[in-house]
Amino acid sequence: MATAKTTRRHVDPSVPLSENKHLLKWVEKVARLTRPDRIHWVSGSEQENKTLLAEMVAGGTLIKLNQKLWPGCYYARSDANDVARVEDRTFICSLSRDNAGPTNNWEDPFQMRRKLKALFSGCMQGRTMYVLPYSMGPVNSGMAQIGVQLTDSPYVVVNMRIMARIGMPVFKLIDKDTKRVVPCIHSVGQPLAPGEQDVPWPCNEEKYIVHFPETREIWSYGSGYGGNALLGKKCFALRIASNIARDEGWMAEHMLILGVEDPKGDKTYVAAAFPSACGKTNFAMLIPPAGFEGWKVWTVGDDIAWIRPDANGELRAINPEAGFFGVAPGTSNKTNSNAMATLARHTIFTNVALTPDGGIWWEGMTDAPPKECLDWQGQHWTPEIARETGRKAAHPNARFTAPAKQCPTIDPAWEDPNGVPISAFIFGGRRATTMPLVFQAFNWSAGVYIGATMGSETTAAMAGATGKVRRDPMAMLPFCGYHMGDYFRHWIKMQRQLETTPRIFHVNWFRRDGDGHFLWPGFGQNMRVLKWIVDRARGRALGRETPIGWMPRYEDLEWNGLDFTKEQFDALQHFDRKQWRQEVIEHEEMFLDLHAHLPSEMIYERELLICRL
Ligand code: OXD
Ligand code: MN
Repeated sequence: MATAKTTRRHVDPSVPLSENKHLLKWVEKVARLTRPDRIHWVSGSEQENKTLLAEMVAGGTLIKLNQKLWPGCYYARSDANDVARVEDRTFICSLSRDNAGPTNNWEDPFQMRRKLKALFSGCMQGRTMYVLPYSMGPVNSGMAQIGVQLTDSPYVVVNMRIMARIGMPVFKLIDKDTKRVVPCIHSVGQPLAPGEQDVPWPCNEEKYIVHFPETREIWSYGSGYGGNALLGKKCFALRIASNIARDEGWMAEHMLILGVEDPKGDKTYVAAAFPSACGKTNFAMLIPPAGFEGWKVWTVGDDIAWIRPDANGELRAINPEAGFFGVAPGTSNKTNSNAMATLARHTIFTNVALTPDGGIWWEGMTDAPPKECLDWQGQHWTPEIARETGRKAAHPNARFTAPAKQCPTIDPAWEDPNGVPISAFIFGGRRATTMPLVFQAFNWSAGVYIGATMGSETTAAMAGATGKVRRDPMAMLPFCGYHMGDYFRHWIKMQRQLETTPRIFHVNWFRRDGDGHFLWPGFGQNMRVLKWIVDRARGRALGRETPIGWMPRYEDLEWNGLDFTKEQFDALQHFDRKQWRQEVIEHEEMFLDLHAHLPSEMIYERELLICRL
C-alpha cells in the first residue's frame, strides 16, 4: 500500500524522503547558501533514473547511443578543462598542517571554510540540488559507510547510481540513526542567470576538492569529472575512509580484489595496489591463458578495498563500490573481454569518440579505427587526421561507468557483507627499468617497505605530465587523507591484530629492453605470476633468495602455453645492483620529506636492504 509520503513523492521530488532532523536541517542550510531553484530527493528508482537521463539528453549533456548496439548506454563529452582528477586542487584541511603531511595540499580549515562559503554562495542558482544518499559497501554490511552528497549535477547522480548503492534503502538507514553520515557538498560552480541557456558540461575553471578529515566532510567545487565529482570514490572511500580506518584499526586501500580458483576448486583472494591507469581493471578481470585449463579468476573489485581483521585475526576485504569507473582507451576484446562484456549495456561513456552509427570507439578498442567519427570534443576525426596531427579520437582518460554485477567474472561473494579473506597483497608500478617481473617480500615489515617505496611512471589519470617516475606509496599518494609517515606506521601496526599475515609481493608488467620493447607480454599471461603468488601464499611453491626478496626461478613458473625462454626470463628478473643503488637513494629522498613521522621499521628495512645490496 502506498503511504501518503510515497504518493505525494510520486508527483513532487522536493518532498523529503528522510525524517532525520539533522539531515533535513543540513539540506536546508546548504540550500540557503547555494540557492538552487529546486531540491530533488533522490529515491534511486528506475523511473527517476529514466527521467534524469531523458532530461540530460534533452539538455545536451548526454547522447543516447544506438540502443540496438549499446542497450541502455549513454555518452557524455566533458569540457576540455575538466578531464581528470586535479591533484594540485585537492586539499586535506586537517586542523594541523602536520597531520596532512608534506604529500598533501593543506590550508587552514577555518580559512578554507571561509573561501568555500564564498564560492558556494549562490553557486546553484538556476539549477536543481539533488540530495543523494549513498552507501559505500553493501547496505547490509557492517563494513559499509554512508554519505549524502548534495550536488547540482544530474550527471553525477546517474553515475553514482552505478558506482554506489543509492536512494531509499540508504535513507532508511539514515532514519535509523545508527551510522555516522559523511556530508558531501558538490557544485559544478556555474550558476545560471534567469533564462540563461545551460551548456552541455557546466564547470568552473577554479576548482577545489576539499576534505576536512576531523569532521569527515567533503566539499567539491568546479568540476563534474570522475574522482573530483563522484565523491563516494576517491574522496570518501579513500581520503576520508583512510582517516576513519586509522582511527578504527582497519585499512582503506587503492586496491583491486580478485579470487583465484585452482583446478581443485580452492579459492585464494588477493588484493593489489597499482597506481591509476596501470591496469588494475585488466588484472581484476584476468582470463587465464592457454595452459591454465581449470583455473579461474574471479573479480571482487577493481579499484578500492576496505580491509578489516575478523574475530579470528584474518584480514577480510569488501569492495565499497558497485561499479567500475574504468579507463576506456586500450580496453578491447583482446586485452579485457570481461570489461567489454561488462560495459556492453547500461553504461555511461565519457570522452570517448562517437561513430556515425551512434556507437562509440576509442584507441585500442579495435585493430582498425572507424573511417570517421566525432572525437571526444565533437570534432570531425579520421585516421588520416590522426596521422597528420596526432589528435586522439578518445581522451586518454576517457572512462566507462559500468555496473559491477554485469561483469562475467564477478565473484559470487562480491557482496558478502563480511567480505572475502585476503591471503596476499601485491604492489606494482609502471617501471621501464630496475623492477623485476615479480618478487616476494621477506616478511610483513619488508613488504610494507616495498609498498611504501613504490615508484611508477605518471599516467593520464591525473592532470599534468605523463611518463615521469614518481614515488607513489601503496598507490595512495593522491588518496591518503593524512600524513604518509603515519600511514606507514598504521600498516606496520595492523600486523599486530593478525593471526594470519598475508604474504606481500611486488610486480612490474612494464619492464623494457634497451630498445624500448616490453619484456613481458602482460595481460592474461600475468596469470603465470599470479599462480606463483597464490602458490607461495599457500606454501606450495619454491623460490630463491635475492637481496630484494624471494624470486621465482625459471622452473618455478608454469610455462605451458607460452613460448618464453630462460634467457628472456632472466632479463626480466635481472637484479641490477647499479640501478638498485639509485633506487635506494630515491627512497631516501622520500624518507627525508616524511622523516618526522617515519616509523623506525622503515629506516631499519632500508639499512638491511643496503647491507644486502
Ligand atoms: C581512478 C583513478 O579513477 O585512480 O580509479 O584515477
Ligand atoms: Mn583508482
